[in-house]
Amino acid sequence: MPKITYVEFDGTEHPVNVANGISVMEGAVKSSVPGIDADCGGACACATCHVYVDEQWLEKVGQPSAIETSMLEFAENVHANSRLSCQINVVSELDGLIVRMPESQH
Ligand code: FES
Repeated sequence: MPKITYVEFDGTEHPVNVANGISVMEGAVKSSVPGIDADCGGACACATCHVYVDEQWLEKVGQPSAIETSMLEFAENVHANSRLSCQINVVSELDGLIVRMPESQH
């Protein structure tokens, strides 16, 4: 299972083994990682699963869809590496992925 490291705003790291086929958001929620609220349950409709993808992983993670990009406008402190974690599917190639959570999801 790919290992994903979720890093809280204060620097606390949460390494989690996440099954292929679920989303980066689901991997966090299943392991009770704080900092990802996911109010809509993964429907790309709330922007409370906002994360910053580590720069070294941007290419492998790929680009957000148009729908995700428009939903990201509802998140705060959006950067070029911002993604909605419910829209990133976990695959073997993402073993080692690092994502950082914003200070707040609201
Ligand atoms: S969980 Fe709502 S947009 Fe990702």
